[in-house]
Amino acid sequence: MNNIDSAAQYPRWTKFLVLAGIVTVIGCSTPVGYNIGVVNTPGYVIKRFCNESVLARFNVELTEGRLDFLWSFIVAIFLVGGAVGSLSGSVTADKIGRRSGLIVSSILGIAGALLFVTSKPANSVEMLVIGRIFVGLSSGLITTIMPMYLMELSPPDLKGASGALCPLGVTTGVLLGQILSTKAILGNESYWHYCLAFFGLLQMVCAFVIPFLPESPKYLFVIRDQPQLSLKELQRVRNIDEDMLIQEIEELKKEKQHNLEKGEDWNIAKVIRSESLLLPLLLICSLQAGQQLSGVNAVFYYSTDIFKGAGLSASSSELATIGAGCCNIFMAILSVQTMSWFKRRAVLQISLLSSTFFLVLLGLSISYMDYYSWMPYLCVAGVLGYVLSYGLGLGPIPYFVGSELFEVGPRSSAMALGSMANWGGNFLVGLTFPTLKTAIGATSFFIFAAFVIALFVFVRIYLPETKGVEAAAISKLVENGFKSKSLRPQLVDRVEMSGAIEKFS
Ligand SMILES: *[C@@H]1O[C@H](CO)[C@@H](O)[C@H](O)[C@H]1NC(C)=O
Repeated sequence: MNNIDSAAQYPRWTKFLVLAGIVTVIGCSTPVGYNIGVVNTPGYVIKRFCNESVLARFNVELTEGRLDFLWSFIVAIFLVGGAVGSLSGSVTADKIGRRSGLIVSSILGIAGALLFVTSKPANSVEMLVIGRIFVGLSSGLITTIMPMYLMELSPPDLKGASGALCPLGVTTGVLLGQILSTKAILGNESYWHYCLAFFGLLQMVCAFVIPFLPESPKYLFVIRDQPQLSLKELQRVRNIDEDMLIQEIEELKKEKQHNLEKGEDWNIAKVIRSESLLLPLLLICSLQAGQQLSGVNAVFYYSTDIFKGAGLSASSSELATIGAGCCNIFMAILSVQTMSWFKRRAVLQISLLSSTFFLVLLGLSISYMDYYSWMPYLCVAGVLGYVLSYGLGLGPIPYFVGSELFEVGPRSSAMALGSMANWGGNFLVGLTFPTLKTAIGATSFFIFAAFVIALFVFVRIYLPETKGVEAAAISKLVENGFKSKSLRPQLVDRVEMSGAIEKFS
């Protein structure tokens, strides 16, 4: 049988792969985004609840400042939960498995949703806080485990595509949260507790389906040492006879062998101390943190004001912001395809450069918004340009590139650290941006731009191309830390980049 035949008979998006993708997007990553996006609008409603609840139960009247602090705490504790959940994601994913890890995260999320629903009738701020911690833990587990799970299930050609599914769900969830939390729908006095808990329905439906999905064959083979079970699951997800899987089984054996040579159990401490993993670890953490430090949330925060400044009415501005959110989702959907087409390095570099450009443009145009009549339109162009540039590479790639940079052994620990860097970055921006905004206004976009351009330089010098390359080969490329000179930009790279640009125009 020649290659073309076997390629033709080699099913790509099989039934189980599609099912795993759909179920995890709806039941795992959409809830993560939902919990990020939902707290924007009903803030003042929930603040009033906190004020009244504390007054009724403890007979303490909160000052304006205390109340603001309590609300910020409720918002931020979710991000802290996310960071802690991310770290525990590696132990969970290696001890009980990828699939069971996702089930645990759903259960935590559902528990959080139940706490939200009952917090209002119980008149309890504590339940609100504990609910946010649960939901944060659940989200952290998901951002560590889900990209890894889907990529380990996928055949090599579809790794990028399935990796892009996690950010797709997060983006969709943010928008869903923003829409449902508008006053007209659920973000009001009577329904805010349902608004906070809505995502629980998605998690509940999916928690019943996840147990029927296949477990990651890589995990079973390399980490659990259960080749029989692994082959059974591999056959189930590929939906073809075992004799057609020879090549993939060989790969698994090789990875297993490699893992044995590198030594026993990996854990987070060992990954941090390992010199040969230093460079890829810095890459994944700076990409993940950089995604947040690029100020994506700040741009969305400003966007309603920007659209108002451009002459839209208040309600149209809100619609335009939702439009920008849709644009963001559109890019995320597109990235499921583009990740199979383009090389990671090229797309990421284009994305970083153009994001920097639009951040600077935004910083300038917002600062001079009132000086020229046409300035507001430039601001709108800046927002849209930024959303497109971000969605091209900086949005999707950091979530999953760790799965390509690391071999199975250290993979879950590295993913956990990367995911923690992402939550940390989100927390840092959430913590400092309100102050920055009051102090220096739109000039804060220049700070974001500086982070992005620094990331560009780092990526340009050190990120190896990971698309379609075995993890074992990549780990060889980067094992010499900053001395990994083979990665310095070469002519080949420039040709690749111009090729990618041509495809876009
Ligand atoms: C808290 O509630 C009390 C009683 O309803 C009200 O007088 C006070 O202004 C509220 N405090 C804040 C900061 O909203």
